[in-house]
Amino acid sequence: MHRLVAVSNRLPLGDNPSGGLVVALQDALGDSGGLWVGFSGEPSDAPQDSLEFHDGARFDRAAFDLTAEDYESYYLGFSNSVLWPAFHGRADLIEIKPEYLQGYRRVNDRIADLLLPHLKPDDRIWIQDYQLIPLAAALRERGVTNRIGFFLHIPFPDPAICAALPNPGEMFGWFSNYDLIGFQARRDLRNFIEGARQLSQAEPLDDQRLRLCGRETRAGAFPIGIDAAGFIDEARGAREEDRMRSLTDSKMMIGVDRLDYSKGIPQRFRAFQLLLENNPDLIEKVMLLQIAPPTRESVEAYQNIREETEHLAGRINGQFATVNWTPIRFIHRPIPRHELAGLYRQANVGLVTPLADGMNLVAKEYVAAQDVADPGVLILSRFAGAAEDMTEAVIVNPHDPWDMAAAMKRAIEMTPNERRRRHAALLQDVVEHDVSWWVDRYLQTLG
Ligand code: ADP
Ligand code: G6P
Repeated sequence: MHRLVAVSNRLPLGDNPSGGLVVALQDALGDSGGLWVGFSGEPSDAPQDSLEFHDGARFDRAAFDLTAEDYESYYLGFSNSVLWPAFHGRADLIEIKPEYLQGYRRVNDRIADLLLPHLKPDDRIWIQDYQLIPLAAALRERGVTNRIGFFLHIPFPDPAICAALPNPGEMFGWFSNYDLIGFQARRDLRNFIEGARQLSQAEPLDDQRLRLCGRETRAGAFPIGIDAAGFIDEARGAREEDRMRSLTDSKMMIGVDRLDYSKGIPQRFRAFQLLLENNPDLIEKVMLLQIAPPTRESVEAYQNIREETEHLAGRINGQFATVNWTPIRFIHRPIPRHELAGLYRQANVGLVTPLADGMNLVAKEYVAAQDVADPGVLILSRFAGAAEDMTEAVIVNPHDPWDMAAAMKRAIEMTPNERRRRHAALLQDVVEHDVSWWVDRYLQTLG
């Protein structure tokens, strides 16, 4: 048996993780065991020059520290002010600074140094997400010959956007050090291959392998899943007191997203506003619960999206609220998973309408949480990776408030038969393609 060593920037040391990577890896390592290495969470004045180990029942965790300067350049800077906006199609939000790229390289080198003494020759190493693209190159430079896989949790952009990065050639060079590069969706795989061809003269060898920067590597689409059985149990067991009451005769729509500009929350609110403007009979009959915990708040684009979202919710509530009813309830904090499961189950409509998203686990959680006899309706953006397979959702264009308002109306009015038919197909996909299926398929392909 090979030990699995997973490395990600985010390492869960506390409760209530929000973010698909942590939720998925927690489920994955829970099954297979192994070691999970990641950032301790807060910058430190005196970073340790070794990993700090936390033993766990199902898997071990080991944390690295970052200085304030590294945190700024590697995490807030290159990862979240260059790669995140670029990979989500927001070239207008990219902020290029030479020190960001230097910090990104430096921190990845440092993680390789810290990891090296703990690696065993037959470990399988699985590196997660855009914060760590150069890590395999750094490990290879230090003599590591283990199989190393990479999984990108976010979308891979088209070549025109890759060309807006400060270092597209170098980026493809980093990728070439992996034995297997995994993407969420077929769309991302196509973009990667096309980008590698155009910007790095890669040669596809067959539909899985390509010659990139003088090395042969494999790339594939491995759509991530959730712990479906666990989530179904969680939702069934959701205690009555965890559910929202006082809503019995009105319909509830729910959105659950980190407060990120990629999630399309203002667009969702505008569509809801349009729905109420055009359907006065829905006043006091439908409400939108938006749960949006804060994220990356030191980055200006995140401060702006928070302000825009709060302002818009206030305006819509001012326009429509009555003494008995508030159309939008906006909760700006993480909530425990069992409560979340109960709320999904109670909601008649799940709103998953990102402008760009790798997969979107909320879509799958919403489906898993439903009561099969009386399920709610999933409204899903065509730009979420989840839309490639969850075709029985009501698929929308999140840029078009008319389309989304019509979908909301249709979902609210959908007959029980149609709801059950759509939900059964969606649930089958979520259960069959769960997180264990994802891990097994990926690790078998990695070999
Ligand atoms: P992303 O990875 O971009 O954040 P996903 O939809 O793939 O988006 O994953 C988000 C994960 O975070 C889901 O598992 C969701 O349940 C969880 N989450 C989001 N918001 C909250 C919240 N307020 N409280 C608890 N968990 C949350
Ligand atoms: C997305 C990314 C993850 C990240 C998470 C939360 O899921 O794919 O890599 O961990 O968002 O973001 P944060 O910056 O708080 O880790």
